[in-house]
Amino acid sequence: MNYTTDFLVIGSGIAGLSFALKAARLGQVTLITKKDKVNTATNLAQGGIAAVLSSEDSFELHIRDTLISGAGLCHEDVVRMVVEKGPERIRELLELGVAFSRDEKDPDRLDLGREGGHSARRIAHSYDRSGQEIERALLRAVTDNPRITVLEDHLAVDLLLHSKTGFPPENRQSYDDRCLGAYVLGPDGVVTTWQARVTVLCTGGAGKVYLYTTNPDIATGDGIAMAYRAGARVANLEFVQFHPTCLFHPLAKNFLISEAVRGEGGRLIDKEGRHFMDSYDPRGDLATRDMVARAIDAEMKASGDDCVFLDITHLSADFVRKRFPNIYQTCLGFGIDITKEPIPVVPAAHYMCGGVLTDKMGRTNIENLYAFGETACTGLHGGNRLASNSLLEAVVFAHQAFVQCEADWPKNSGLQFLEIRDWRVGRAERIEECVLITHNWDQIRRLMWNYVGIVRSDKRLALVKSRLAPLLAEIDQHYRDYLLTPDLVELRNISQLADLIVRCAMIRKESRGLHYNVDHPAADDLNWLKDTVLVKS
Ligand code: SIN
Repeated sequence: MNYTTDFLVIGSGIAGLSFALKAARLGQVTLITKKDKVNTATNLAQGGIAAVLSSEDSFELHIRDTLISGAGLCHEDVVRMVVEKGPERIRELLELGVAFSRDEKDPDRLDLGREGGHSARRIAHSYDRSGQEIERALLRAVTDNPRITVLEDHLAVDLLLHSKTGFPPENRQSYDDRCLGAYVLGPDGVVTTWQARVTVLCTGGAGKVYLYTTNPDIATGDGIAMAYRAGARVANLEFVQFHPTCLFHPLAKNFLISEAVRGEGGRLIDKEGRHFMDSYDPRGDLATRDMVARAIDAEMKASGDDCVFLDITHLSADFVRKRFPNIYQTCLGFGIDITKEPIPVVPAAHYMCGGVLTDKMGRTNIENLYAFGETACTGLHGGNRLASNSLLEAVVFAHQAFVQCEADWPKNSGLQFLEIRDWRVGRAERIEECVLITHNWDQIRRLMWNYVGIVRSDKRLALVKSRLAPLLAEIDQHYRDYLLTPDLVELRNISQLADLIVRCAMIRKESRGLHYNVDHPAADDLNWLKDTVLVKS
């Protein structure tokens, strides 16, 4: 089956929804999402969205904090653009009905939170359910818009490229190819062809490459893997951010304890009650995430303990229950009253700072293919994302991309859809033994956790590369031999991401931001103040 649409948006988090709402002013939008539409990383975001929203703050301070956190790799022009456009995008969210928490004394003002690496209070939040509130408001507007169709349980498998259609090559100077849409696996197990004038990748990150992650199950790096296979440039995938404080409890799968808890005075302690962050960083508990995660890792390795603790028992119980209702209730459900006892926490994979390389308008090196949100590497985050800058990046780049699409629309709206052959099943058979998938999935996640985690070494990276090679070959064979299922598509993407992360980590022979290699413990500004870029040969 062959379908057509003006805009094919892949992913239903803040980035995809924000763009869809704007693109609908130009044409028909089809937004596909591989599970339920609220099953996104946005929906789990607790902290909020950073922007300069008070007279005690300034663009210069937010820019400086972002650059410091990014450890020399942020693109300063991008940082400036995102920071300066932030307040306008927050106003749009407010107009859409996002209920950010208000200052108790002056309800005309937002209650601004603080997180690690920020020198001022600048996080607009909705208590500790910020992402859920933003997702709710955006989804309502999307659902009300007759020009947007949302298709759940539709998983993009691969991008459609002009160079693969058999039509005569096009004459192009600024791009390497042109994207025509994507092959999409539907809930009936059939792969259909979706042609689009513009295709947008907003599939989120790839936390599921690691055994322990704060991410939802959908975070399998689909957009990055598809883009790489299509010849898009990907960058900085060695910079995997580990959130310092994920709840440590055998029944809690991936529950985050927001950095906002430390922003309000929470302190990290060991099981003896000893506060340790001051001996690692002068910023103490509010140091940037790379520092805090590494400090916890060092403490756990030295003590042999399974976790450290986050203590907020010194704060008023009323305040804690009111400011962090979600964290309070969830922990209570696991038998932990956070107003009376410290919370057991461990670091877990949280955010990909790298991704599909884009320019300031969200464009990739493939014409009519955009990427933004966690899928992209825009130059904002550098070697370590500043907390709560990600939702900001998503809304700013969704707007940038819309501006570009609007400018290009006179040309793109006239593009003819092509006769493209259907997806070929060939001799593929139904997979009989799902263990073929689950076993490989488990092996990759363990390998990545044990060898490519917070602290790396040349030996561990070489080892994991050699162990990944046969797995990659086996998964590629499965992909050819069996009819596609969502699990198989995700396994292929996970394995591809693991390989890309390892390759980037092996290229960078220094330690910077989130990439720490014991064999190259210092930053090497002379040779490595640059992005690690990979492109399929
Ligand atoms: C948090 O609430 O700690 C997460 C916020 C973020 O990742 O930016």
